[in-house]
Amino acid sequence: MGYKVAVAGATGNVGREMLDILAERGFPADEVIALASRRSVGTEVSFGDKTLKVKALENYDFSDTDICLMSAGGEVSKQWSPKIGAQGCVVIDNSSAFRYDSDVPLIVPEVNADAIAGFTKKNIIANPNCSTAQLVVALKPLHDAATIKRVVVATYQSVSGAGKDAMDELFSQTRAVFVSDPIEAKKFPKRIAFNVIPHIDVFMEDGYTKEEWKVMAETKKILDPKIKLTCTAVRVPVFVSHSEAVNVEFERPITVEEATEVLRNAPGVLVVDKREAGGYITPYEAAGEDATYVSRIREDATVENGLSFWCVSDNLRKGAALNAVQIAEVLVNRKLLKPKQKAA
Ligand SMILES: NC(=O)c1ccc[n+]([C@@H]2O[C@H](COP(=O)([O-])OP(=O)(O)OC[C@H]3O[C@@H](n4cnc5c(N)ncnc54)[C@H](OP(=O)(O)O)[C@@H]3O)[C@@H](O)[C@H]2O)c1
Repeated sequence: MGYKVAVAGATGNVGREMLDILAERGFPADEVIALASRRSVGTEVSFGDKTLKVKALENYDFSDTDICLMSAGGEVSKQWSPKIGAQGCVVIDNSSAFRYDSDVPLIVPEVNADAIAGFTKKNIIANPNCSTAQLVVALKPLHDAATIKRVVVATYQSVSGAGKDAMDELFSQTRAVFVSDPIEAKKFPKRIAFNVIPHIDVFMEDGYTKEEWKVMAETKKILDPKIKLTCTAVRVPVFVSHSEAVNVEFERPITVEEATEVLRNAPGVLVVDKREAGGYITPYEAAGEDATYVSRIREDATVENGLSFWCVSDNLRKGAALNAVQIAEVLVNRKLLKPKQKAA
């Protein structure tokens, strides 16, 4: 018997991608349920060659559901994930609500799949922030090879990271510029069309933004608490895929050739690095793909044992939905979760 899987937030950017990825990868589900807010009840979403009618999360009984892929925002997760977990359904949560809870594993399967064992404490597993996921996929093999001391990262994050309304805002502002209509900014603090905004999520007391803090805290939790990391997170007028300029300082020397070889052999990473016009990956090309792409690998001679590189991945896939489905696959493949008997 296969699993019964619910996708909460199924009408959203990440939820739709989750349904696609479950179907594409042939996840062993007997039944998939699409859940969203009351506003969406009865609307239809695609699942492979089927369509599913959306049900309301608030009225759904999880007692015979095995896995809930939760992608409905932090407040909804805080309210519902503990209740769902208490009903014996494992929640894989995309929001930041439980990421820093020591009783909740924060998992990127290529990096720390073994940490998943702790999920039974709350029946909740957290998926990292989109910028963290791709970063740690690229950093892990380099850390294993030469031990990372310090990372300086600047992100170039697409608007889809802020949800479907944010994508609409980039589209409508871009149109408004061309037809000379007034520009309305609701989702972003300043105009995003033909602009970049060095501010994602709220400001913290030390001057960093919460998005930057998330990348720093999550990298430590997933990869190694000893790594020092500083981040500048920037929103750019790109629809899908986040890019990152990454500078790394290692304990031991590592050449560009060694780093390239290590990255070429790493799970989830594709190196495209030709040192010529177009010989690197841009967000447009990474959209719809599963890999974390690494390009522009070069020595940084201003520090001891320094390297810089460019890293791009589809934030809705590796940054969210794909990583969540891969976590579910770890549960299944390691036999950590048996399908419940169907309720009579
Ligand atoms: N986008 C990314 O790159 C990314 C990456 C990592 C993590 N995440 C996280 O994933 C989550 C979803 O992001 P998104 O980009 O998919 O957002 P989105 O496009 O705005 O979609 C939000 C989803 O949540 C549902 N929802 C809202 N309020 C609800 C409620 N009270 N009860 C049930 N469902 C409710 C919405 O349903 P309705 O259509 O009915 O309103 C919709 O399906 C967020 O926590 C986000 O931080 C996103």
